Amino acid sequence: MEPETAARAFEPASPAMLEGRVALVTGGTRGIGRAIAMSLAQAGAIVLVSGRDAAVGAEVVAAIEAAGGTAFCLTADLADDEAVGSLIGKSVAAAGKLDILVNNAGIDADAPAIDYDLEAWRRVLRFNLEIPFRLSQDAAQHFLARDGGVIVNIASVLGFVAVGEACSYVAAKHGLIGLTKSLAVEWGKQGVRVNAIAPGLIQTDMTSYLWQGEHADRYVDARIPLGRIGQPRDIGGAVVFLASDAADFIHGQTIAIDGGFLAT
Ligand code: NAI
Repeated sequence: MEPETAARAFEPASPAMLEGRVALVTGGTRGIGRAIAMSLAQAGAIVLVSGRDAAVGAEVVAAIEAAGGTAFCLTADLADDEAVGSLIGKSVAAAGKLDILVNNAGIDADAPAIDYDLEAWRRVLRFNLEIPFRLSQDAAQHFLARDGGVIVNIASVLGFVAVGEACSYVAAKHGLIGLTKSLAVEWGKQGVRVNAIAPGLIQTDMTSYLWQGEHADRYVDARIPLGRIGQPRDIGGAVVFLASDAADFIHGQTIAIDGGFLAT
């Protein structure tokens, strides 16, 4: 086996590192997903923004186009099984192909474990674990028939550690990190690279109850060495990197983006 040339191995990152690639971002209409969609488009990818609300999706597409990128909105309510089953097919139909799947859409439902509602448990597991699995299967079918592809799962630091009253979310995100490794082991030789990102506390709608008020300042001071809550834009760069050829040998990994939370 010939070693790679130095030029190939140390190719620098460039703003157009995803030129010609097509990326689907689930839950791409707000929060972390929106920021990921913007970053992917900035790196040259054609971005398919999937979300429930067509009007909000159109706004994200307009913002990407205003910044010089290319994007399409795919309306899909992932609570609907059929919408999940048809999303990859619709993506390929819209852009002609798919190279990158970002499983970002997720939900939480916090409550004490002792009498945690089983329906809420199923919903959280479905959104954070089952749907990423199903979309990964469908995307991999497409990738395997072509030159391969990349999957990036948005997990959480709660896929490494636990907090109270979040049993379903913690279980699902631990599962998603396990799924990332599992799919990496099965699909790597066929050219499908699978990795995950584990955000720490990021300022979005999902976490508004955590980053407002005095307790948030105390939490940041005690648990986040960089001294601030993360912003959605903190996540996009790592997704671009993992999706790009610069990460060609990174596989089955989960990268924490948490301001140092897991180091405390
Ligand atoms: P968010 O609540 O702002 O966004 C969640 C996304 O999922 C939205 O785009 C929403 O439209 C989509 N979604 C929810 N239900 C849907 C449905 N029925 N059909 C289609 N899409 C649906 O949350 P945020 O914070 O942007 O979260 C994005 C991902 O990042 C999630 O997987 C979350 O678990 C993860 N994460 C967030 C952290 C944070 O501190 N905000 C920390 C760690 C992980």
